[in-house]
Amino acid sequence: MTLPPKPVARPDKVSLWRYMRLFRRDILSAQPARLYRAWMAEFRTPFFRSFLINDPALLREVLKDNPDSYPKSDRIGAGLRPLLGKSVFLTNGAQWRAQRRIIDPAFEGGRLRDTFPGIVAAGQAGCGRFAAMADDTPRAIDAAASHIAADVIFRTLFSLPIEDETAGEVYHRFQAYQQAQPILNLAAFLPLLRWMPAFFRPGVRGQARAIRRLIADLTQARLDQIAAGTAPDDLATKIMTTPDPETGKTFSKAEMVDQVAIFFLAGHETSASALAWALYLLATHPDWQDKVAAEAATFDAVFSDLSRLSATRDVFREALRLYPPVPMMVRQASKATIFRSRRVPAGAQIVLSPWHLHRHERIWDAPDAFDPARWQDGATKTAQRDGYLPFSAGPRMCSGAGFAMIEGVVLLAQLVGRFRFAPVAGQVPVPTAHLTVRARDGIMLRITPRD
Ligand code: HEM
Repeated sequence: MTLPPKPVARPDKVSLWRYMRLFRRDILSAQPARLYRAWMAEFRTPFFRSFLINDPALLREVLKDNPDSYPKSDRIGAGLRPLLGKSVFLTNGAQWRAQRRIIDPAFEGGRLRDTFPGIVAAGQAGCGRFAAMADDTPRAIDAAASHIAADVIFRTLFSLPIEDETAGEVYHRFQAYQQAQPILNLAAFLPLLRWMPAFFRPGVRGQARAIRRLIADLTQARLDQIAAGTAPDDLATKIMTTPDPETGKTFSKAEMVDQVAIFFLAGHETSASALAWALYLLATHPDWQDKVAAEAATFDAVFSDLSRLSATRDVFREALRLYPPVPMMVRQASKATIFRSRRVPAGAQIVLSPWHLHRHERIWDAPDAFDPARWQDGATKTAQRDGYLPFSAGPRMCSGAGFAMIEGVVLLAQLVGRFRFAPVAGQVPVPTAHLTVRARDGIMLRITPRD
């Protein structure tokens, strides 16, 4: 059985200069193979110390037990602030807690059901576009997945399809923004000397301003609808009308613009990446594709049908394990501490790497193999608990995790129910991490109608 693609690791010892060059190209292949076996690795350079942790006890400490001692680092925020302002993704402490008190209720169990029709409608529109591509010629599946995921976010957030003029413009400008400014650029990820400027490529600030202007228009229009009592009951309305239970305040317009920007960015790139890799894995594992298709045949696009799609859910989980859309997260130790008998100085960068954890050789059996059946195997319960963080964990866990699990399963069922996906001979995607885990030259698949 051939294993799904994995980037070639770098040699164990390289100069700092070479590491930085490799890092700038791709953070995954810039890392040594020992990170797939180590519980912790320290990177010591003249400028900074960082600790990559895979040890489940340390992950618990950082994410669940003492998250306030490991806030998000300012340097990460620097690259994103022009677009995201003070969004929940970048803030810390009391400000962050207040934002989550308003946002979280919109994503809670019962209310998630309200997003289902928007997800299904985006999937149906996506099937229409796939039908036009289903001629057995190589097609860029990741671009098509991005289009659907952007449609999902606009339909569920603002009740607008991506064909809407403003929604479409936001989507296209986000794509341009990402090409100009990958999140994980060197300056953001490695805390270089403080006085070094965070580098913005030409055009990044202009794109960010334009995107924020468009989002401000959408937000104002929604405020007007709320005032007139004509607002649809979507995620935007829920978030804009929910008061902070502690202060009674709702988001101001400016605060809402920050949050919409992160919902769009965090919610569409990640889901698009997961969907594209899941389709690739199914194309290369026809036995699992048949199982998903069989389940899809019983799916009538009704919310209660979701519980029946268990193989589809296991496929999506396994895709998130092998290709976690957010491959690494960075925190900063706010005070000195000890990790595995080693001194961690205040200010050290703590790197959490779903990418390495999900393929950790001491946690998972056959870590690089695609095996959705492992999710039903009682023997992997410990690995599922200790070695799986696609959405992070603890109070700072992804707000959209429940939403994303519904979205991924629904879209897979809709697409695989209607189409067959097959690999293109000789075209194996090379995983690479920029904003999310994507394929260096795209993911090409052949699509044909299932009937
Ligand atoms: C498969 C899809 C997704 C994956 C794998 C994913 C993963 C993640 C991860 C790992 C984080 C934590 C980042 C960190 O702490 O540095 C995060 C945060 C976040 N995600 Fe997601 N996400 C997905 C979809 C979504 C969706 C659909 C939404 C919203 C509609 C969303 C909204 C957010 C927000 C607002 C945060 C910031 C939370 C905070 O810092 O308190 N995500 N996501």
